[in-house]
Amino acid sequence: MTDTLYYDIVIVGSGIAGLRAALEVKRTFGDKVSLALISKIQLMRSHSVAAEGGTAAVLYPEEGDSFALHAWDTIKGADFLADQDAVWLMVKLLPEEIRQLERWGMPWSRRPDGRIAQRPFGGHSFPRACFAADKTGFFEMQTLYSRLVGYDNWDRYDEVYVTSILIEDNEFKGVTAIDMKTGEFLVFRARAGIIATGGVGRIYKFTTYSHTVTGDGQAMALRAGIPLKDMEFIQFHPTGLVPSGILITEGARGEGGYLINKNGERFMKKYAPEKMELAPRDVVSRAEMTEILEGRGFKDPVSGLEYVLLDLRHLGEERINERLPAVREIAIKHAGIDPVSEPIPVRPVAHYSMGGIHTDKYYRVLNIEDKWVKGLWAAGEVSCASVHGANRLGSNSTAECLVSGRIAGRQAAQYVMKLKEQGAPEPKPSEKLIEKEEKRIFDELLKHESGSVTVYEVRAKLRETMDKYVYVFRDESGLKKALQTTLELRKEMRNVYPSDKSRIYNTDLITVLETQNMVDVAYTVIYGALLRTESRGAHYRIDYPKRDDDNWLKHTLVYMTSNGGLEVTYTPVRITTWKPIARKY
Ligand code: FUM
Repeated sequence: MTDTLYYDIVIVGSGIAGLRAALEVKRTFGDKVSLALISKIQLMRSHSVAAEGGTAAVLYPEEGDSFALHAWDTIKGADFLADQDAVWLMVKLLPEEIRQLERWGMPWSRRPDGRIAQRPFGGHSFPRACFAADKTGFFEMQTLYSRLVGYDNWDRYDEVYVTSILIEDNEFKGVTAIDMKTGEFLVFRARAGIIATGGVGRIYKFTTYSHTVTGDGQAMALRAGIPLKDMEFIQFHPTGLVPSGILITEGARGEGGYLINKNGERFMKKYAPEKMELAPRDVVSRAEMTEILEGRGFKDPVSGLEYVLLDLRHLGEERINERLPAVREIAIKHAGIDPVSEPIPVRPVAHYSMGGIHTDKYYRVLNIEDKWVKGLWAAGEVSCASVHGANRLGSNSTAECLVSGRIAGRQAAQYVMKLKEQGAPEPKPSEKLIEKEEKRIFDELLKHESGSVTVYEVRAKLRETMDKYVYVFRDESGLKKALQTTLELRKEMRNVYPSDKSRIYNTDLITVLETQNMVDVAYTVIYGALLRTESRGAHYRIDYPKRDDDNWLKHTLVYMTSNGGLEVTYTPVRITTWKPIARKY
C-alpha cells in the first residue's frame, strides 16, 4: 500500500507562507521545477484565511515612515530577543510584497485618493498595517492561489497528512504521508522541502486557532532531530471573544476601539499612557489580566470566563460596516452582541507562537550545531528566524509569511535547479527510515486496542493545563505542575490508539497523530518557560518579574535525543543595530 512519488520540491502546508513559497518557485523557474503542495485539509482552508487585521509594510516614507522605524518598533516590541539582521531583511522586502500582491489583484482597502490604506496597530509608531477590511488573510490567500493556478508542473495534495520529514546525513530526502481519502502510505522523495505548517495554537483551549493547528511541523522537526527555538514565547492576543476565543481583530482598536473595565474606565491609561489600547499585545494582555485579577472584570455566567469590554460604539455603524464587517458578524453570531450598540466581551487568547523550527535569516533549517540541513527550509509561523523575538507586533505575521515564503521558495528553486544542472541523482531515502515510519503508524497504532484513556481525554487535559498554568502570568509552581502533567500525558499517549481501525478517511488516526504532536510541542513550551527565570515579552514570570539581559539575552533551543527525551541548549541573539533598553509605551 506504499506509493512512492518524486518531485523536485515539496511544500508542506498551504497557508500564506506555503502558497507564497509555491508561487516563488514557479515564478523563478516555471515548468522546469516540479512541485508538490501538500495540505492536511482542503488547500484553501488553511488557517491563514482567518487572519483579519492587516500586513505591515513601509509604504509612505514621505509621510514619516521608514525601514529603520519599522525595524525599531519590531525589535522593541520583541523585547530585544529578535535577531536584528533578520528583522532588517524582512522590513526591507515587505513593501515589494504588498505592491506585488496589488498587481496580482489583491483588493486592498483604499485611501480616498485610491492609494493603499494603512491602519494603526499595536506597538507600531506609524499606521503601517495594509488591510482588506478585516478579511486580509482570506484575500491574500485568494490572490496567491489565483496566481498559482496559472502555472504548470505542480500538483496539489489535499487531505494528505504528512507524518515525518526524512533526513539522512544532515540532508533532506523527502516526507512520508497518509492520503486520508484512501489510507495509502505515501513517500514523497524530493530534493528540497519547505515546511509551512503554521503554529501550535490548539495546545490551548481558549485560542483563536482553527482546530487544524496542532504543531505538526514543529513535532516532526523535533522527531527528525531538529531543534525548536524560543517555544516558551506564546502570544496572547488581548481580544479573544468570550466565550469562544474567536479573534476580534486588533484592527478594531486600530480603528479607535476602547478597552473598558467594570468601572467604565479606559484602564490602559494606567499601563501604557502613551500608546493606550495600541500598546503591544503582551502589555495589553497583562493589563487586562491585572484588571480581572484585581476584581475589575466581568464574569460570563455560563463559561465562568472573566473578561473586559471592547467598546466600538463611538465608531458608528457606517465605519464598523466598512472597516470591521467580520468583527460585527462574528460578535453577532458567536456572542449575540451587535458592537454597534453594545461592547464586546474579550480576554487574552492564545494567538501565536513566536518560537518554531530553528532557522537562519534565510529560513534555512538549522541542526543543533547550527549547520544547515541541506535542502530544507521552514516558512511562516512554524519557523523561527526570530524576527518576533519574545513578542510579535500585530500585522507582522502575515508580513513574515509573505517574506519567508518568498525567500524560501526562491532559494529552494535555485538550489534544486543547480543540482539538476549538475546532473545530481534524485534523492533516495533509505528503506529502513521509511519502513520505521510505516510501522509506527500502521502496525503500532492501527493494530492495537486502546487502554482506558481516550485521545480526546488527553487533548482536553492538555488544553486545560496550558490554559491554567502556561497563560499570561506564569510561575515556577504552576509550570512544574504543567510539566508533570504533560510528562504523564506523553506516557499515556503510548497507550492511546485510534478506535477506528479502517484505512479510509480515518480521522481518529489523524487525531491520535496530531495529539502526539501537540503533547510533544506543549512540553517544549513548558520546559523553556520553566527554565527561563526572567520576564521578557509574552513570557511573564510573577516570581521573576524583571527582564534579565545579563543571563537571558539568548535563544532557547529544545531538541529531542535518540531515546525520545528533550534537552535544552542556548544560542546568542544577533544584535546588529540597537542595544536593549527599558521598554515603555
Ligand atoms: O488582530 C489581528 O487582526 C491579528 C493580526 C495579527 O496577528 O497579526
